[in-house]
Amino acid sequence: MASVSSATVLTEIGQRLAARPARWLVTGSAGFIGSHLVETLLKFGQTVVGLDNLSTGSRSNLDQIKLQVTPEQWARHHFVEADICDLAACRLACKDIDFVLHQAALGSVPRSLVNPLATHAANIDGFLNMLVAARDEGVKRFIYAASSSTYGDHPALPKVEDAIGRPLSPYAVTKLVNELYAEVFGRCYGFPSIGLRYFNVFGARQDPDGAYAAVIPRWSRALLLGEPVVIYGDGETSRDFCFVDNAVQANLLAATVDEPQALNQVYNVAVDDRTSLNRLFELLRDALTGFRANIGEAKATYADFRPGDVRHSQADIDKARRLLGYRPSHRIEEGIRAAMPWYVSRFSALDEVC
Ligand SMILES: NC(=O)c1ccc[n+]([C@@H]2O[C@H](COP(=O)([O-])OP(=O)(O)OC[C@H]3O[C@@H](n4cnc5c(N)ncnc54)[C@H](O)[C@@H]3O)[C@@H](O)[C@H]2O)c1
Repeated sequence: MASVSSATVLTEIGQRLAARPARWLVTGSAGFIGSHLVETLLKFGQTVVGLDNLSTGSRSNLDQIKLQVTPEQWARHHFVEADICDLAACRLACKDIDFVLHQAALGSVPRSLVNPLATHAANIDGFLNMLVAARDEGVKRFIYAASSSTYGDHPALPKVEDAIGRPLSPYAVTKLVNELYAEVFGRCYGFPSIGLRYFNVFGARQDPDGAYAAVIPRWSRALLLGEPVVIYGDGETSRDFCFVDNAVQANLLAATVDEPQALNQVYNVAVDDRTSLNRLFELLRDALTGFRANIGEAKATYADFRPGDVRHSQADIDKARRLLGYRPSHRIEEGIRAAMPWYVSRFSALDEVC
């Protein structure tokens, strides 16, 4: 697949799925990444059960999916409000499901430092419930959201899948444990899974509110509302920011890849690029200039480094390219351009300019 372009990859997956309609369970479906998975699957003619306890996700994300699909596509969607800590609910949701895309978890390193028990319950107990339920119900493949936080204090850049360090937060522990359980379920029960180590995914519907909002939605909101943008550290901390369409592509490839050696593996999902926080601030400010008076002159303020944050992060995506045929469709600039209209309309800032 080496010469296939990124746009062709998604079209090809869509054609493959249309020829083989299946039943999918997306956990965390009312959240950011989960809602994009549901939307794409419905557009590809699939039947989708979404499960979410609405702890950090929202019904408004589901309402927005409904606006993006046809009534016929929406009719193939069924939402279950349930908690993955409830094994019986997981079993029920997995009934007659072909593929699970498991996204439900409590994200955020700082949240896990404040409340490690809550993070553990959702991310480890809930994960194990989902694995057991999916195995027992005969699910064909279990794709799950892993995390770049698993690289912990390993200094190498870019990050290669088999070289990880010690976890730097309770959240990172939970994501590492997910990988260990998935691997053991492959070895002990022959249960097929694939873990996708997301690196700073961003896009429309990523929650901009609250103490644990990720950096792109938080700063977009602050710029649009004329509030201060705070950079923790000197701003040279860097990340491999990954537009959500790239993550969707990786999930659908992982669920449909035919090569047996691609299974029971973990893959980096990002772009193999690195953007400093100082540069990110400039990109967002430039993208939003014109949507509110004086954004162009906005300046960031600096605060102490946050505990648990890794200094630099960049993904080596060669393994996903080789074994899954992954071709990221958006670099950070394109992703920001695609995502910003949602934030602009969310904060109704256009009115102030026009
Ligand atoms: N966004 C990123 O940059 C990123 C990076 C690495 C890994 N991840 C992982 O990707 C997945 C999706 O993240 P997201 O950014 O869409 O976050 P999100 O918070 O928007 O979505 C997570 C969803 O899971 C639901 N949920 C949480 N606990 C639950 C429970 N016990 N039972 C049922 N539902 C529950 C929430 O209500 C929410 O809708 C998570 O597993 C996260 O750890 C995300």
